[in-house]
Amino acid sequence: MTDLQTAPGAAEPKRMCFNRRDFLILGGAAVTVLATYGEGAQAQQLVTSSYARKVIGKLSGLRPGVAVPFNYPTDDIENILVMLNEEAGAGVGEDRNIVAFNTVCPHMGGYMDASVFKPEYSVLGPCPLHLSTFDLTKHGMIVSGHSTASLPQIALELDGDDIVATGAMGLFYGYSRNPSGA
Ligand code: FES
Repeated sequence: MTDLQTAPGAAEPKRMCFNRRDFLILGGAAVTVLATYGEGAQAQQLVTSSYARKVIGKLSGLRPGVAVPFNYPTDDIENILVMLNEEAGAGVGEDRNIVAFNTVCPHMGGYMDASVFKPEYSVLGPCPLHLSTFDLTKHGMIVSGHSTASLPQIALELDGDDIVATGAMGLFYGYSRNPSGA
């Protein structure tokens, strides 16, 4: 019996499906963890690089629609922390709407910052070089523009009032594999 066959009455096996994002992540990542999106049934498996935990903000200090810049996992990698107006993939908090993303466009390194965060649409962009725009509710998936990769997402956890970064999902622009961390 192959691993795709099931015994009579047994549940169908879950098939692992790799898209371009997963392929790129697997090429650069060293360690895997799981992240889920949606209401249980729509769990999505992502591969991430793990880094030292770092407190990047306070839950009590976050405001919906206001992006907070931070550096992680190294001092030269810039990201934003945001509280969206809707649930997001790998979001943390009571409403699963707190997420963080790298701000360097994965296409050709265009620099995006909090000024191009559009909370009304939960997107980051357009990138100033070729106008890529990324959906922050769907793990940074591109919604328009030239990029063929998603925006790297920072894995988060809550520890009381602390918002803690624990890793990164995706390959940072300019790296053939993600940095080993601070
Ligand atoms: S560098 Fe961002 S779309 Fe090309």
